[in-house]
Amino acid sequence: MEKGGWEKQYWGLLMVFIVHLFLITEASLRGPEYKSLPPLRLHRLGHEYVVMDNGIVNVTLSTPKGMVTRIQYKGIDNILEYNKETNRGLQGTSYKVIKEDENQIEISFPSKWNPSLGDSSRPLNVDKRFVMLRGSSGFYTYAIFERLNGFPAMSIDQGRVAFKLQHKLFNYMAISNTRQRVMPTPNDRSNGQTLDYHEAVLLTNPSNPHLKGEVDDKYQYSEDNKDNRVHGWISLDKGVGFWVITPSDEFKVGGPLKQELTSHVGPTSLSVFFSNHYAGILSLKFQDGEPWKKVFGPVFVYLNSDSAQKDPSSLWKDAKRQMMKEKESWPYDFPHSEDFPKANQRGMVRGRLQVRDRYINRYLINANSAYIGLAKPGEVRSWQTESKGYQFWTRANPEGHFTITGIRPGNYSLYAWVPGIIGDYKYDNFIIIAPGSEIRVGELVYLPPRIGPTLWEIGIPDRTAAEFYVPDPNPELANNLYTDHADKFRQYGLWDRYSDIYPKHDLIFTVGTSMYQKDWFFAHVTRKQNNTYVPTTWRVSFRLEHVRSGTYTLQLALASSSYSELQVRVNNPWAARPHFTTLRIGRDNAIARHGIHGLYSLYSVDISSFQLVKGSNSIYLTQARGGSPFKGHMYDYLRLEGPPEIK
Ligand SMILES: *[C@@H]1O[C@H](CO)[C@@H](O)[C@H](O)[C@H]1NC(C)=O
Ligand SMILES: *[C@@H]1O[C@H](CO)[C@@H](O)[C@H](O)[C@H]1NC(C)=O
Ligand SMILES: *[C@@H]1O[C@H](CO)[C@@H](O)[C@H](O)[C@H]1NC(C)=O
Repeated sequence: MEKGGWEKQYWGLLMVFIVHLFLITEASLRGPEYKSLPPLRLHRLGHEYVVMDNGIVNVTLSTPKGMVTRIQYKGIDNILEYNKETNRGLQGTSYKVIKEDENQIEISFPSKWNPSLGDSSRPLNVDKRFVMLRGSSGFYTYAIFERLNGFPAMSIDQGRVAFKLQHKLFNYMAISNTRQRVMPTPNDRSNGQTLDYHEAVLLTNPSNPHLKGEVDDKYQYSEDNKDNRVHGWISLDKGVGFWVITPSDEFKVGGPLKQELTSHVGPTSLSVFFSNHYAGILSLKFQDGEPWKKVFGPVFVYLNSDSAQKDPSSLWKDAKRQMMKEKESWPYDFPHSEDFPKANQRGMVRGRLQVRDRYINRYLINANSAYIGLAKPGEVRSWQTESKGYQFWTRANPEGHFTITGIRPGNYSLYAWVPGIIGDYKYDNFIIIAPGSEIRVGELVYLPPRIGPTLWEIGIPDRTAAEFYVPDPNPELANNLYTDHADKFRQYGLWDRYSDIYPKHDLIFTVGTSMYQKDWFFAHVTRKQNNTYVPTTWRVSFRLEHVRSGTYTLQLALASSSYSELQVRVNNPWAARPHFTTLRIGRDNAIARHGIHGLYSLYSVDISSFQLVKGSNSIYLTQARGGSPFKGHMYDYLRLEGPPEIK
């Protein structure tokens, strides 16, 4: 197995700007009670620390590095684990109190590129900020990254905020309404058996006997950016919760479908701003001399408590309520950096998107619930891998009307995709946003890829493989959280289930009798055979009552690909040369990381009528790259179209 190649992201530079956290509850109040809350105080402890204190939470920051070393809440002396990683991450070289009054404290910990330090200093200036507000049960953090003209080339693979909590306190983790559970300890993982990929561990001897025989893997807790709004940990013993709240995606890379880690055994909670995960090619790369500036955050670290009930559901509900409040107050009005524009310095775009596909409907189709977004100008779909700018996405209503608000001034392209329709839309013009802009783009029409009438189709064009057959895991390798609901794809080892189901012969799908929900395996993987992993060829069998002369089109939408090669053959599986090949594609690693999608791609393959016959025909789809269980791709949707009909 080519493990080295898959793990590249860890060779790169990790930029971690803080480790450890813990907090308290008390909803933040902005009502008349506000003034009765204790005023903020900033304590200076010698030259080494400052403490932000609002009577609810105390947050201790080291000076000048700006590491969070202690969070006091509800009588807990430190929510954070003792920080063994103080030498990691972005460290300030000085600090400055930007604002200090009874309602707000904001502290800046800048660091500048220092060429005299050689390779140990990155050509990047960073201003790391912490903010505490009166009556608010937590604190905010954000960072401004800047490269000036003339800075030398560099690349960074990951940027994130990380908090490591006291493992003796926190044992219950919550990511969503259904994804929450009692978790193993870091020790349980060290005592366990490492599986393929060191992040996946079989718990052979956990301290909590109920967890014995389960698999733990941090990638089982990944989330799409669009759904990653609040996640964290609960101390069932103390009735205290610790939450990372991300009120907006505007600063995250790769758009709404980019997946990132959330919380995992540590206990660790992250806010990941950029990474290669589930994309493979997202690192921030700068040319010699390339200037750049971007604000990551703010994110809110929220603490809550419920000592009476010690019930995880009440803390989770309260955390979601707080997340809604943070979302509603975005863009925040309190950050003091002039690089964070306030609401009145931003703009908006309105319009309506419809779809024209005469083989679906002779009239325009409303782009119901379409994803519509602004991102840096680029090619169709470039937003999937865009990492340097900001992105602003919304969903259209059932009629396709949309409004995007809170857009930072800048030059953007408008991109869209519509659930149920293949391909991507891009608006022809650039959208220039100035402070206060209100741009109306009017009625837009998307012409999706379409040559002729549908002869057959497999799946739903929604950029995931979720509608296909997802097997049960090997019972010896299960995570009991994911046994019986829609998250089954997050189980470990599903790649090997293909070989169990198809030990000798590959999948055959017969149009008309097979059902994609149970007969189309969610990932086109290799087969385990004699201790190696061999290429596989799937067959789609279909009948044509007659063949019309002209060009047929096979639309192949992929939801993910990793070091795979998809070859297409028509009616001859032994043809030495494939009719079509993608060559090697993809590095998103969604199969190994239990995703149901990675990056989207689309191929339109022409098939001449000479290659087809009246009666039964077969299209053979080969995943031609073997040698590893993790090489493969996921289909989003397949469609065979006949030659165009003359109207
Ligand atoms: C914060 O620190 C102050 C000063 O040490 C202390 O009086 C107060 O109780 C602390 N607050 C919390 C929430 O621990
Ligand atoms: C917007 O960006 C595009 C692509 O880089 C460029 O061609 C265009 O001139 C820009 N427009 C403005 C007003 O800067
Ligand atoms: C796999 O191994 C078995 C037993 O050694 C052998 O009979 C068989 O031919 C091998 N199959 C392949 C495809 O190499």
